[in-house]
Amino acid sequence: MGLIGPGFIAAQHIEAVRRLGDVEVVALAGSSLEAARRRAAEWHVERAYGDYRELIADPDVDVVHNTTPNHLHLEVSLAALAARKHVISDKPLSDSAEHSRILWEAARRARVAHVVTFNYRGNPLVQEARSRVSRGELGPLCYVHGQYLQDWLSDERVYSWRLDPARGGASSALRDIGSHWCDLAEHVTGLRIEAVLADLSTVVARREVSAAAGGTFSRTTATRGRRKVRIASEDLATVLLRFHGGAKGCVAVGQVLPGHKNDLQLEVNGREASVRWLQERQNELWVGRFGQPSMVIGKDPSILCAQAARYAHLPAGHQEGWADAFRNVIADAYQWIREGARPRARPAALATFADGYRSDLLVEAMLASHAAGGVWRKIPLPG
Ligand SMILES: NC(=O)c1ccc[n+]([C@@H]2O[C@H](COP(=O)([O-])OP(=O)(O)OC[C@H]3O[C@@H](n4cnc5c(N)ncnc54)[C@H](O)[C@@H]3O)[C@@H](O)[C@H]2O)c1
Repeated sequence: MGLIGPGFIAAQHIEAVRRLGDVEVVALAGSSLEAARRRAAEWHVERAYGDYRELIADPDVDVVHNTTPNHLHLEVSLAALAARKHVISDKPLSDSAEHSRILWEAARRARVAHVVTFNYRGNPLVQEARSRVSRGELGPLCYVHGQYLQDWLSDERVYSWRLDPARGGASSALRDIGSHWCDLAEHVTGLRIEAVLADLSTVVARREVSAAAGGTFSRTTATRGRRKVRIASEDLATVLLRFHGGAKGCVAVGQVLPGHKNDLQLEVNGREASVRWLQERQNELWVGRFGQPSMVIGKDPSILCAQAARYAHLPAGHQEGWADAFRNVIADAYQWIREGARPRARPAALATFADGYRSDLLVEAMLASHAAGGVWRKIPLPG
């Protein structure tokens, strides 16, 4: 494999691929040859390129991982697909629904594996929740709710390309993390969100940027060369949801909420039972019932359903975490690739460019809902 965009999340892609044991990390491409060489030396990767096109042209690269900032996803992934390379793109698929549509169509034409790393699907207890819903254990679903809250953008001295519409896209928090929550809610329930009503805010409307601005999650401490920039995209959102079949829902998404680190929570209520999964306590799944004791199921492969047990690699009581779930998604991606990327061979929990496109349609419907003054917006059918 070759990776383009060797920043924060790239390290997780490299580690996950290396844990598979039979995939070689051949090359990295960065924003400059110098940056790529630095990372390649740090991560013990043999080849470094200053131009992603050279990496894509490398005959030893069969799979391209795209971990560039959002505005580069379209051109990088399109170039890889044009060269008939398999593409594993980090989310969001691109910076707009229109660009994601182009990518989805190009991927289908190329007949290669096309994967979006909605990595929370790779958690064993997420799969346990999904299985319990699909087996009907919860009864008809009535409410799907939760939050994805972080605090790393609370400080006005933190700046990320995510806040620049030219690089992150028109949405910030919703595209960055709201996309994960919506994907997870649809994946666990098996229900499509049909309509949204969104209320968005920009809590930190001016930020300090310095020439020495660090990477994702880092704070600018340099005192020289600082300038203030106005922020237009949302850092806080509350969204009402209507699911196919009549279930209702709501989600809060924010990145400026002190104390919340990676606080993703999803609860699904049916007429018979409820399930709740907290990312920060990801080795547990709460199952609630009326008139009976509720229970907490631990990550014990011997009692989980087959799909969940597949993702649990250690016995009960041995905690597994974020990077393990990420590895599960990457393992599924390479399993699909080994099977020739035949559509029917795709592992059931693996998100594709179709899911990435759908995610961008959802985000844009939320932006449109807010812009229209907070009105219900239907999610357009993919096309
Ligand atoms: N799955 C997740 O939970 C998750 C978490 C974090 C980030 N992401 C996604 O991963 C992507 C990258 O985010 P990040 O936080 O790692 O950002 P980052 O800024 O840390 O890394 C981006 C990297 O791309 C490099 N780059 C910029 N222009 C380039 C070019 N022309 N060619 C090659 N490389 C170039 C940058 O120098 C940097 O090394 C984003 O799309 C983001 O949404 C996903």
